[in-house]
Amino acid sequence: MNEKIPVAVLGATGTVGQRFVSLLADHPWFEIVSVTGSERSEGKAYGEAARWLLPGEIPLMVREMHVKPSDGSLQGARLLFSALPARVAEGVEPRLAAEGYIVCSNASTHRMGTDIPLLIPEINADHLALIDRQRDLRGWSGLIVTSPNCSTTGIVFPLKALDDAFGVSQVHAVTMQAISGAGYPGVSSMEQYDNVIPYIRGEEVKMEQETRKLLGELGEEAIEPADIEVSAQANRVPVLDGHLAALSIGLRNAPNLNEVEAALAAFRGVDGLPSAPAHPLIVRSEENRPQPRLDRDAQDGMAVSVGRVQPCSVLDFRMVSLVHNTLRGAAGGALLNAELLVIEGYLGEAAREVAFA
Ligand SMILES: NC(=O)c1ccc[n+]([C@@H]2O[C@H](COP(=O)([O-])OP(=O)(O)OC[C@H]3O[C@@H](n4cnc5c(N)ncnc54)[C@H](OP(=O)(O)O)[C@@H]3O)[C@@H](O)[C@H]2O)c1
Repeated sequence: MNEKIPVAVLGATGTVGQRFVSLLADHPWFEIVSVTGSERSEGKAYGEAARWLLPGEIPLMVREMHVKPSDGSLQGARLLFSALPARVAEGVEPRLAAEGYIVCSNASTHRMGTDIPLLIPEINADHLALIDRQRDLRGWSGLIVTSPNCSTTGIVFPLKALDDAFGVSQVHAVTMQAISGAGYPGVSSMEQYDNVIPYIRGEEVKMEQETRKLLGELGEEAIEPADIEVSAQANRVPVLDGHLAALSIGLRNAPNLNEVEAALAAFRGVDGLPSAPAHPLIVRSEENRPQPRLDRDAQDGMAVSVGRVQPCSVLDFRMVSLVHNTLRGAAGGALLNAELLVIEGYLGEAAREVAFA
């Protein structure tokens, strides 16, 4: 098989779905053969159904494609990228996995399932081993792999670097999150303009639980959560894309500032995945970086940036991290997970041949 691997995007008309469409348009391994949406879009041409919000035109190969229901015929796709709302993903994703589909999900619904990998290839690729348990328990011929919440993704890169080097004991995170994180149409402009909203439903708990799972150890039965106290406070700010987080971090060892900066700078990427950035964690030395507008597109939006690294008088060190929420924090992260699944053989030998062609 030398043709590309056929894929579908579920919830393709939304904020994250559009990112998937844009990232997949020229992907070397994958080709979109089906797009899905809600009843609002079903039967319409994608170009008509999607309120396209990204720069440039809607990619030609999907513009005329008819939007399907999310549990309907997926036109020969075996790999599915899900950008469905959590309440919809709850029923649809397991049903599709049972039918044999490989589901790479952005929805929060299944992330904390004990047999469901919550995955970032640079952080915890070994957690893919949960798939054997998932198949044993559920009898699925397909599978579900999930990507973390976008804010969790932004903080877990520096935490992983520091945890490996010094052991992290405590984290206090205060986020300033972009409005695209709320999907489309999201927060009303009357509420958001000239304003900061100190509440995002469910976000703080997700950051606390997911960070511990991502940094946890693969155990016999499940992931043993990392022994880290995480306290998060989430705020919505009038920025289009890019979630910033101010972090205070307690460490088990007592490194100096140079050692902390060196540990962050030493974070390495993964090889062999086309969407993987060469430098997934960028350390900025300017006194006023990272900033959403200037830094969210680093490494095509796939790198997390960290800066303002300094000692903290409450916990040990403080810093600011930034992630592009719809790229590395959503569609780009799920795409990277799919690439890892291909390389690891979860889509079969023929798909691996596409990757190594
Ligand atoms: N935005 C982010 O930064 C971000 C980051 C990480 C994770 N996520 C997660 O990714 C998912 C998508 O988020 P989003 O921001 O893209 O939301 P969104 O802009 O509201 O898009 C939702 C998508 O789901 C479709 N949909 C809605 N109800 C449906 C139904 N009953 N059946 C089938 N499809 C349905 C919509 O189709 P129609 O357009 O046809 O209605 C649309 O394509 C959510 O689970 C979210 O929590 C988002």
